[in-house]
Amino acid sequence: MQTLTILGATGSIGKNTLDVVKRHTDKYQVYALTANSDYQTLLSQAKDFNAQHIVLADVSVKDDALALAASMKVTVKCHFGADALVYVSRHAEVDTVMAAIVGAAGLLPTFAAVEAGKRVLLANKEALVMSGEIFMSKAKQCGATILPIDSEHNAIFQCLPQRFEYGDLSASGISKILLTGSGGPFLETDLELFSDITPAQACAHPNWDMGQKISIDSATMMNKGLEFIEACWLFGLQNDDIEIVLHPQSTIHSMVQYTDGSVIAQMGLPDMRTPIAHALAYPARIQSGVSPLDFSQLRDFTFSTPCHKRYPNLYLALRAARMGQSACTVLNAANEVNVAAFLAGDISFNDIARFNAQVLDTHQLVKLTTIEEVIQCDNAAREIAQSAISESLC
Ligand SMILES: NC(=O)c1ccc[n+]([C@@H]2O[C@H](COP(=O)([O-])OP(=O)(O)OC[C@H]3O[C@@H](n4cnc5c(N)ncnc54)[C@H](OP(=O)(O)O)[C@@H]3O)[C@@H](O)[C@H]2O)c1
Repeated sequence: MQTLTILGATGSIGKNTLDVVKRHTDKYQVYALTANSDYQTLLSQAKDFNAQHIVLADVSVKDDALALAASMKVTVKCHFGADALVYVSRHAEVDTVMAAIVGAAGLLPTFAAVEAGKRVLLANKEALVMSGEIFMSKAKQCGATILPIDSEHNAIFQCLPQRFEYGDLSASGISKILLTGSGGPFLETDLELFSDITPAQACAHPNWDMGQKISIDSATMMNKGLEFIEACWLFGLQNDDIEIVLHPQSTIHSMVQYTDGSVIAQMGLPDMRTPIAHALAYPARIQSGVSPLDFSQLRDFTFSTPCHKRYPNLYLALRAARMGQSACTVLNAANEVNVAAFLAGDISFNDIARFNAQVLDTHQLVKLTTIEEVIQCDNAAREIAQSAISESLC
């Protein structure tokens, strides 16, 4: 029996994780579930899965949450505030932590799970983008196992040889990692129309059903840029080891190309329950609830290269990856601020890349050696990004 904490249980990944867990209650039991403020969903999940603890990071919902818990007669211990996220991540009773909080808010609880040597199912890519080397060396030092949940990284993980040499592709007989991406909802949209794109249009991903932030990042392809940085850290890759390939059908989730000319691809329907089930059960396999691919229904199967003009955010992320760690940290922070401003209707779709570039262009690289320094760097970049938005609104 594996005991689980699910950070971000009320989100898209969190709900998909619980959907897999409910099929295997003989194998997984829930220790804690967390959310930011959605206490109604969290309490109903806690009741359904008999969780011992819930955490709501937003303390302002405390009174309402406690009143609802009492009226629902849920016997769960309720905690409030971000510190409690860390508590349920590193608790001795927990074997596995699903890290599925969106954005930088996930860094500290995910890092706490790493420090406690847990099996960490990593969906929260921003944590790794912000703190790559610190995060990975802490995992090594503390004996934490990191299993990728992002469908692309999970696919790469599945396609790697059993004896993969971290950081040395040629020693493993690999020539390239092919990171695929759909291109999002605006793959064919006339560039002239980009300035009028609305949040609702940008959130409507053609293949995947995801939270708002990652949906916008998929539309700008910043998501692929963050994934590029994530892949470098997860598998010890150099920038030139990875090629980004557009594959609009999202049937192949990524590939590994070997020196003998073989290419191994992982395929499946675009449904996050597959990588979640894979990581939960690894190295075993369990039912995920996902239907098998029906090859008689697969029509188009196309590949191309992403264009600079259409996806400037992708190329900003690749530039940050070449610059170094603090550039990735500040770009991630600026992007979170700018995506939130776009969702709030304060800036246009094109402004996301324009304001992200302003922050990256003015960044002076600094060496980040601790998580506290990473958070300081993130906060400073958020202030710069926020003031650029405020100036533009004056
Ligand atoms: N969705 C996907 O298919 C997918 C695929 C690959 C990777 N990922 C990655 O997985 C992560 C989660 O994505 P998602 O799509 O599941 O996001 P989501 O649907 O927006 O859910 C986010 C979760 O994080 C919680 N949260 C938000 N802000 C928080 C804060 N300040 N403190 C504590 N908890 C907070 C939310 O709680 P409330 O509900 O209370 O707001 C919710 O439970 C992201 O890093 C994303 O890049 C997602």
